[in-house]
Amino acid sequence: MVKVGIIGLGAVGDRLLKQFLGHSETQVYAICDSNAGRLQEVKEQVKNVELYTNYKDLLLNPEIDLVYIAVPPKYHHRIALDAVQAKKHVLCEKPLADSYDEAKEMLEAVENASVTHAINFPLAYNDAVNELKKRVIDKEIGETQRVELTMHFPKWPRAWQQNPWIAGREQGGFVREITPHYLQLILELFGDIKEVQSYIQYPSNENDCETSIIARLMLSNGCPVLINGLSGIGRKEEISFKIYGDKGTVALKNWSQLEGERIEKDSHVINVLENNEHQDLISEMVKAINGDKCRLITFKEGFEIQKVLEKLLQSK
Ligand SMILES: NC(=O)c1ccc[n+]([C@@H]2O[C@H](COP(=O)([O-])OP(=O)(O)OC[C@H]3O[C@@H](n4cnc5c(N)ncnc54)[C@H](O)[C@@H]3O)[C@@H](O)[C@H]2O)c1
Repeated sequence: MVKVGIIGLGAVGDRLLKQFLGHSETQVYAICDSNAGRLQEVKEQVKNVELYTNYKDLLLNPEIDLVYIAVPPKYHHRIALDAVQAKKHVLCEKPLADSYDEAKEMLEAVENASVTHAINFPLAYNDAVNELKKRVIDKEIGETQRVELTMHFPKWPRAWQQNPWIAGREQGGFVREITPHYLQLILELFGDIKEVQSYIQYPSNENDCETSIIARLMLSNGCPVLINGLSGIGRKEEISFKIYGDKGTVALKNWSQLEGERIEKDSHVINVLENNEHQDLISEMVKAINGDKCRLITFKEGFEIQKVLEKLLQSK
């Protein structure tokens, strides 16, 4: 049984708390949130769990094997370094860090400490995404000509996402929140990103996050990636990731809907709505801790993603 300490019990921490509770090989041993009211709420739902308001106290607990870090991005760095120092395995939320230097230091720390390390990228365990990858790798869509990421929001942050940091320039914004998921996919499918040209627009209040990004990335095979992000527009939310090949196209819409077409057949649409969960993050994490073969997105990939993310955020 892997004993888990969760640090940060907001929207995402709560999501993974349920997954850890529902998993036969993990035990939620401790939870930390700096908001004592949040701990009070969880006390009602989860029995036999140690509760802390200071993560350093949680890290002192020798029973805990794995620490899951689900605090806002600017706290990932310090907490991850302290967790590694305490010899815990670490699962961190994305983006890995709040800067290039932080991400580099975090990568060096996990590599030197030889602990299991991973980042929560749910798309890596999503059936629709696996099917998308297969179509690209098996060249069912032919040679890739272009990749396109569209992120359109009537309002950012969304109504269900109100918290003190997500609308701020320091650590929020949809570029930091959404793009890393797709950068992970791009790096996995196509390897290095050679060039990044990015044009970001910010509102006049210097504390507010971006409202627009237009960016062009160049893959090592010479294929461009276009990023088109816009908030505050009169349309419903759309997040779509499209790969155009010379024989067909495949697209992931709103995280889990796969659409594809091929040139020699009638245009058709395929929806993959169910995730069979033959692979899931927590099982893979447990396998890694037990020394078994597993599939994790590690801090190494998180660092590569952070490098591109920082370039995107350094607008021309
Ligand atoms: N993997 C995904 O699909 C996904 C989706 C959304 C957000 N995220 C990431 O998850 C992280 C958390 O996002 P969220 O939406 O849950 O945020 P949130 O603001 O809803 O929750 C953060 C929680 O952390 C607590 N906290 C803050 N600082 C703390 C500290 N120093 N010690 C202990 N607790 C602390 C807050 O009280 C809060 O309860 C962010 O990095 C975000 O980018 C990941």
